[in-house]
Amino acid sequence: MTSADPIFEVKDVTLRFGGVTSLNNVSLNQERGEILSVIGPNGAGKTSLFNCLTGVYLPQEGSITFHPTQTKAIKIVGRAPHRVAQAGVARTFQTSRMFNALTTFENVKIGVEAHQKTGPIGAMLKLPRTRHEEKFSDQRSHELLEYVNLTHRTNTLASSLPYGDRRRLEIARALGTDPKVLLLDEPAAGTNPSEKLALAELISRINTELGISILLIEHDMKLVMSLAQRLIVLNFGGVIAEGTPQEIQENPLVIEAYLGASDEATQ
Ligand SMILES: Nc1ncnc2c1ncn2[C@@H]1O[C@H](COP(=O)(O)OP(=O)(O)OP(=O)(O)O)[C@@H](O)[C@H]1O
Ligand SMILES: [Mg+2]
Repeated sequence: MTSADPIFEVKDVTLRFGGVTSLNNVSLNQERGEILSVIGPNGAGKTSLFNCLTGVYLPQEGSITFHPTQTKAIKIVGRAPHRVAQAGVARTFQTSRMFNALTTFENVKIGVEAHQKTGPIGAMLKLPRTRHEEKFSDQRSHELLEYVNLTHRTNTLASSLPYGDRRRLEIARALGTDPKVLLLDEPAAGTNPSEKLALAELISRINTELGISILLIEHDMKLVMSLAQRLIVLNFGGVIAEGTPQEIQENPLVIEAYLGASDEATQ
């Protein structure tokens, strides 16, 4: 598909691990401001795609460009993950990567400080920081916690947060880097129905209020269909379908891919 103002342009990306082809000639565009969902059965290549988009994996073939139509178009392939993050790409992980021994507030502050001169390592080592930086990161961390409705958990250790709150904390931390696009890898996994609703509301708010484009991997079809404007379906590393929620639900190739897959993916 051609698009007028893409935030991501992925062209012919192939990623192999030994004999396994995780991504096979994948091409896709994400429009600026769009909530685009990537779905597909277990092992389809969804997380691998996120890893390529964030500089974690280096595909053998193809190109990935971040805001390609702007003068400062950024080539992602070959760029280190922290530099991709600095360019405005933030993500959460399929399995939680919180610092369990730190509080909710401290976890968010790490995200905010990743963007500052002294950086999170410097902060941990207590290197001299400007008072301005310190004040800014404290204030911004409180704002972000408020934004994701976690103010009441400010001083709670991450290890003792309920699952839904953990997921929200991961999102707050990702927002701390002031991203232009947010990649969410199964944000609702393990959450209960009311936590799912709250997450959907948060994702939608981040998109509309903050103007952040969202790329969403999610197995919960109800959540995906209610949030995504468009979907890309992966199966065995290849794109098998692309379209609106309605088009995807009616696509025989998609139905077949899911019927042949594990039960989890069809729930
Ligand atoms: N670092 C790696 N080394 C070897 N193989 C890998 C690696 N990362 C991914 N793969 C393989 O790539 C394929 C796609 O995996 P990926 O994690 O991207 O799937 P997924 O769509 O995210 O699945 P799930 O829904 O279970 O999270 C799998 O066969 C997986 O084993
Ligand atoms: Mg995955």
